[in-house]
Amino acid sequence: MSERDYTLEPDSELRFEVEGKKEVVVLNLLKGKAEIFGTEITPEKPYSFHSGAKVAVFTWHGCSIKLKGNTEGTYIAKETPMVMYLNTHACLERLRKQADEGLAKGEEARGPVTMIVGPTDVGKSTLCRILLNYAVRMQRRPLFVDLDIGQGAIAIPGSIGAVLVERAASIDEGFSQEAPLVYNFGHIAPNSNMTLYNILVSRMAQTVQEKIVSNRKVAASGVVINTCGWVKDDGYRSLTHVAQSFEVDIIIVLDQERLYNELVQDIPFIKVVFLPKSGGVVERTRAMRISARDDRIRDYFYGIKTKYHPHSFDVRLNSVQIYKIGAPALPDSCMPADMKMDDHMTKLVKIDPSGKLQHHMLAVTLTTDPEDLLATNVAGFICVVDVDEEAGTMKVLSPQPKPLPDTILILTEVQYMDSN
Ligand SMILES: Nc1ncnc2c1ncn2[C@@H]1O[C@H](COP(=O)(O)OP(=O)(O)OP(=O)(O)O)[C@@H](O)[C@H]1O
Ligand SMILES: [Mg+2]
Repeated sequence: MSERDYTLEPDSELRFEVEGKKEVVVLNLLKGKAEIFGTEITPEKPYSFHSGAKVAVFTWHGCSIKLKGNTEGTYIAKETPMVMYLNTHACLERLRKQADEGLAKGEEARGPVTMIVGPTDVGKSTLCRILLNYAVRMQRRPLFVDLDIGQGAIAIPGSIGAVLVERAASIDEGFSQEAPLVYNFGHIAPNSNMTLYNILVSRMAQTVQEKIVSNRKVAASGVVINTCGWVKDDGYRSLTHVAQSFEVDIIIVLDQERLYNELVQDIPFIKVVFLPKSGGVVERTRAMRISARDDRIRDYFYGIKTKYHPHSFDVRLNSVQIYKIGAPALPDSCMPADMKMDDHMTKLVKIDPSGKLQHHMLAVTLTTDPEDLLATNVAGFICVVDVDEEAGTMKVLSPQPKPLPDTILILTEVQYMDSN
């Protein structure tokens, strides 16, 4: 196994990737201080990285690091946008201080609501993580809202979520996902049902607003919002919808000047900031994205470092109520005169449980009233492992032990094949 020491000058970062399926790379900080995407590394503590990891170890003051194991594309970069990211954090921190002062005087103040936008593979998720980590290292308690249903970090693909950040992200597990607020969308791309996506975004914005009003510390800390990398046409319109719903104060545009200019022109009342992407951000192929989504569902059930023990049990098909949101669109000529396209997209369709459910993820809601399905958050997700139509049962994988709650399940288009 290869082993190598690296000495980093101030303001530089060591970048590496881990490839091979079973490969594990262990990192140790030998001297100085360093951080990974805003989380400080503890000296002499070994950190393990597994296949697929793309890492940057950044140092403000210089450090030395030992890497054990086989890494790919390993180099030290002296050019990084970290100073700009830190300056952005400093601006946000000033706004948090102002909000603190306002709140102390009994005013209705609020810390910055920041939204990060840009095309795919520009480091949006990473910048969210850095800004949230810096905030929490200053004793702030910001909210993290992830609206990226394809490559987001909360719950599973096909959902949007929010968590209160009380600790810096763990190097291997990211931000703690205790008590996340999750809305089920059910598809991995927003254009599968733009109407529903926008409804859920508005609903999430409302709930986040309520959270802010009820907690002064959170109110002063503000919100960081991650978004999808789809920035054209409906994707663009959806970004402006997010900005309005959350009453965003600052939009950070990563990498794309065209998007920056469009936003400056279209929403002159919001501050729009352009930041360059880091040269270290690694592009991901379609195959890598698919496998990242799969990994996220596996981690949802089985955990990453902390291992979870999901439950597997049979459920009687006639004991569950399953709905799907959105019916296939009819041609205009077939639609009743008073019905709009939008009505189709939010139509609730009752599903007869059958073999077709196999491998699908189902959202477990908190309601027994179909009328509530569009706008309520969900308790979690289960996966249909197998359906036995003859016996009238299905086998599910669930983070919670049986029985399933007596609430409605929503069928999603997200699929997972359990191979554990
Ligand atoms: N400075 C860096 N050095 C090395 N790797 C990096 C750096 N910044 C980000 N990465 C890696 O690059 C990959 C892509 O970054 P990230 O997920 O933040 O991009 P994104 O814009 O959110 O992508 P997506 O459009 O898929 O959501 C990640 O695996 C991340 O760990
Ligand atoms: Mg992302």
